[in-house]
Amino acid sequence: MQAWVIGNWKQNPATSHDVNALLDDLLSAVSEKQGSDAAGCQLMVAPSCIHIAAVSDRLKGSSVLSAAQDISAYSASTGAYTGDCSAQQIADAGATWTILGHSERRQYHQESHDCLLQKMTHALAQNLGVVFCIGETQAQYDAKETLAVIDVQLSVIKDLLAQNPKLAKDLSARLIIAYEPVWAIGTGKVPTVAEVSATHQHIKQTLTGFNSELDNMTVLYGGSVNADNADSFAADSMIDGALVGGASLKAESFLAIAHAFSRAMA
Ligand code: PGA
Repeated sequence: MQAWVIGNWKQNPATSHDVNALLDDLLSAVSEKQGSDAAGCQLMVAPSCIHIAAVSDRLKGSSVLSAAQDISAYSASTGAYTGDCSAQQIADAGATWTILGHSERRQYHQESHDCLLQKMTHALAQNLGVVFCIGETQAQYDAKETLAVIDVQLSVIKDLLAQNPKLAKDLSARLIIAYEPVWAIGTGKVPTVAEVSATHQHIKQTLTGFNSELDNMTVLYGGSVNADNADSFAADSMIDGALVGGASLKAESFLAIAHAFSRAMA
């Protein structure tokens, strides 16, 4: 199985100039490593919507994929939805994946189960892969509710399959789960590798329970992953890669995380 290391740039960098500088660093670091240990790891970056076309254009011909951070829930193509960007528009801009359900979207934009089901349906209809984020808050973690919270969040996939059972066949190639405890995002706090491993095992079993075709799902860990702790997550066979925020904004730390997973897959 191949590892995935995905950079979620969030609302960064501020200018096209800085986006290009980050891409310069990333592309030169990737080409230096071509043919070496980077091979076991698929890289992807998710810039702000405004930068997707330019970033996708520059990544053409490289091994790095591009993704959106979100898409419209209301229409897969066009419509009177001020401020939204549809799955079709994202695909046309050159991205091949989208992140969905990030905790910042759930928190600041009140994204609900039904909204995420709509978004996932639209993304897959436009042939975008989906990186679906799930994870518990600090209070839920403290109350030992992690698995119960995750079960509710994963039920979006159960409902998706109930609506369209034919999707199951290809879903393991088009859907990635990112387990991101909300309390670990941007805080420098991380769960133990054993905790993440047990949660990932639960996620994988739950998905296989939805449909036996989902017996090989990629499950990433996200939340304060950096160049120093990546090796410990990469060493666990339940952790198939990382969704990286802060450390993806410097090519050096992003590539160091990728190399940790490449080494572990070798
Ligand atoms: P972080 O963010 O790596 O900065 O904690 C991860 C994320 O939000 O996806």
